[in-house]
Amino acid sequence: MQGLTEVLFRRVYEECFPEAVARAVAPFLSLTHNLQQASPRARALFLRDVLPENNEDSIPVIPQILGKEPEEFVELDHMLYDLGYREVNWNMGCPMRAVTGKHRGSGILPYPDEVRMVLDAVVPKIKCQLSVKVRLGLRDKVEIFRIIPILNDYPLASVTVHPRTGRQQYGGEVDLETFGQVLPMIKAPVIYNGDICTVQDIRRIETRFPEVADIMVGRGLLYHPTLPLDAAGEQQPVTSTKHFIRRLMEDIKVKIPHTEAQIKKTKEYWGLLWKSLPISEMQAREVLRAQDVNIVDNLIEGFTQ
Ligand SMILES: Cc1cc2nc3c(=O)[nH]c(=O)nc-3n(C[C@H](O)[C@H](O)[C@H](O)COP(=O)(O)O)c2cc1C
Repeated sequence: MQGLTEVLFRRVYEECFPEAVARAVAPFLSLTHNLQQASPRARALFLRDVLPENNEDSIPVIPQILGKEPEEFVELDHMLYDLGYREVNWNMGCPMRAVTGKHRGSGILPYPDEVRMVLDAVVPKIKCQLSVKVRLGLRDKVEIFRIIPILNDYPLASVTVHPRTGRQQYGGEVDLETFGQVLPMIKAPVIYNGDICTVQDIRRIETRFPEVADIMVGRGLLYHPTLPLDAAGEQQPVTSTKHFIRRLMEDIKVKIPHTEAQIKKTKEYWGLLWKSLPISEMQAREVLRAQDVNIVDNLIEGFTQ
């Protein structure tokens, strides 16, 4: 998740909960022109979140590509292959208007011909295995039914389905009815994604859709960092979560030099992570309201003792 499950998070998570998460799809890399011609420094900056040297001791990563320009796609795939990656994920789910307006992310879903054009151009040339992540559509869930026959023509490692439309953004209900219809239509292994926040949510999907190959957790990992371990029967005490939050906050201070940026990042995480602690929303808001870095630190320290 952009701004959240970046390498700083992934490394602290792996340190606190080793091997709890099998793999993480990294926040998307947006296709840009002339990456090949860019200076080594600019290229390293662009790729910093997935550079192997930054990802030692991190959750194993699958890089993700956002965009539909075949040449740039292949170029980036080759760079990622050279960095040691063997799978890339194509993002056809991003709902941000600035993205969808360019037929990127879920913005490509109303245009099956464009999806085929990209896959036709890219699949024979890429070196990594390709997996894709989709929503049910941009505006309407009927869109997915025209996309699936196209996806089925290519050897995909997996298809992750987040059963919302792009227009829904992250709100409203996930459409499990439609997910159940598309599941048997997809040839590749299907990964379910959407609103998995508790062990019961995982069990509900496993029971209703036993054919699902895997489950991808999004915001739930921040609402409930120990969720994968709890689901595996290795129930974690709240002290583990508190320790993880403190470690994350420590690393933000070390890795992010400017105080303002530190506070911003801390609050981004805190806005989700507080739900994993036995505190009220009113208490959590004290942190979000505070402007001074020391006050923010002291409050979080107090809540995670
Ligand atoms: C702030 C934010 C950033 C996200 N960035 C990405 C991204 O870069 N790539 C991606 O595939 N999904 C991204 N997502 C979507 C999540 O991966 C996931 O599909 C979505 O949140 C639904 O799952 P959830 O209900 O478990 O969170 C993002 C979601 C949020 C809230």
